[in-house]
Amino acid sequence: YGDASQKIDYVFKVVLIGDSAVGKSQILSRFARNEFSLDSKATIGVEFQTRTLVIQHKSVKAQIWDTAGQERYRAVTSAYYRGAVGAMLVYDITKRQTFDHIPRWLEELRAHADKNIVIILIGNKTDLEDQRAVPTEDAKEFAEKEGLFFLETSALEATNVEEAFLTVLTEIF
Ligand code: GTP
Ligand code: MG
Repeated sequence: YGDASQKIDYVFKVVLIGDSAVGKSQILSRFARNEFSLDSKATIGVEFQTRTLVIQHKSVKAQIWDTAGQERYRAVTSAYYRGAVGAMLVYDITKRQTFDHIPRWLEELRAHADKNIVIILIGNKTDLEDQRAVPTEDAKEFAEKEGLFFLETSALEATNVEEAFLTVLTEIF
């Protein structure tokens, strides 16, 4: 998986969703620029970043969309999901509530996105293991029941971030 600067064979839109402060923007920043910030501001509206990768000898431009977890800052839902071929459903392993809200996000996703969209459930902030509130098994079980891919990540330590995006992009491919 190298970086490609030549022609683009495919452009894949992937959306990030989940409660506020679970780390969506930092996961994106880690993937797109290999940067991380502890004093990240809540996202207002929609932002996106791209990164071009080579997958199976084709150059794939991943266009990753990021929106606010907070209702009042959210953009128009249907436009956000339009054309998305992948989705990353993120919760914070130290905040049970963010995991309990996952079924709602999944419902919104299924109501607005293409039915063939590839979805991965992501439990972020594994660097805070001592504050864990969501057992890995609970999430794994939920993901299996709903037919989602599942990984735990740390945007801070750069653990599994690359793997999470590659799981989605390779499956779309
Ligand atoms: P909204 O834009 O409001 O929806 O939030 P968000 O999901 O984009 O959260 P954001 O990426 O802004 O991160 C929220 C806070 O969690 C920030 O202080 C981040 O630095 C922190 N954070 C994000 N990822 C990690 C992680 O893997 N580990 C730790 N310890 N903190 C993280
Ligand atoms: Mg954000």
